[in-house]
Amino acid sequence: MKVNKRLYIPQVIIRQFSINDFPEVRALELDAFNEDNSMYYIELYQFFPDSFYVATVNNKVVGFVVGLIIERVGRIFSLAVLRDYRGSGIGKALLEKIIDVLERKGVKKIRLEVREDNEVAKRLYKSMNFKEVDIIPYYYKDGCSAIVMEREGFSWKNYSRNL
Ligand SMILES: CC(C)(COP(=O)(O)OP(=O)(O)OC[C@H]1O[C@@H](n2cnc3c(N)ncnc32)[C@H](O)[C@@H]1OP(=O)(O)O)[C@@H](O)C(=O)NCCC(=O)NCCS
Repeated sequence: MKVNKRLYIPQVIIRQFSINDFPEVRALELDAFNEDNSMYYIELYQFFPDSFYVATVNNKVVGFVVGLIIERVGRIFSLAVLRDYRGSGIGKALLEKIIDVLERKGVKKIRLEVREDNEVAKRLYKSMNFKEVDIIPYYYKDGCSAIVMEREGFSWKNYSRNL
């Protein structure tokens, strides 16, 4: 994992979500988005148990990412890092993990929506080769538009097939 110049946080572990992490993920979701969609996460976890990862520091959940696959297109449903731990590369590490997991499952395209005013997240996604492909007006409850971003990726499945 890249260590950021802004803040160094030792011993960040990225691992699969387990149901015991749910209270911490829920609290993080509330803090990051000011709303609670965490019940969706549990539903998604039932369908896509290996597309839900958490970042931990000293066994404390400090970030999470939730992905899924619909009709062979990967989707990043949610990504968040605890405020005190932002700017240290954890968001990027979680994003790299989920991209790797989805692309190893054979998806060639990964899509996500991000608030138009979320410059930090847009910058992070652009740094991982996501491109802005669409805008959905009034997508969020407060009327903010969503920018749809897509990454045309590398498919490990196709790679190994061609070996
Ligand atoms: C978006 C979020 C997950 C990023 O997590 P993070 O751990 O702070 O991000 P990282 O430290 O890995 O930084 C990755 C990149 O994000 C961008 N970034 C991070 N912090 C930034 C800041 N304060 N200002 C501008 N860009 C920033 C940079 O491009 C950075 O790469 P760089 O360090 O090479 O310049 C985090 O800010 C967050 O949880 N936000 C609230 C929830 C949210 O908006 N989620 C995304 C929903 S689509």
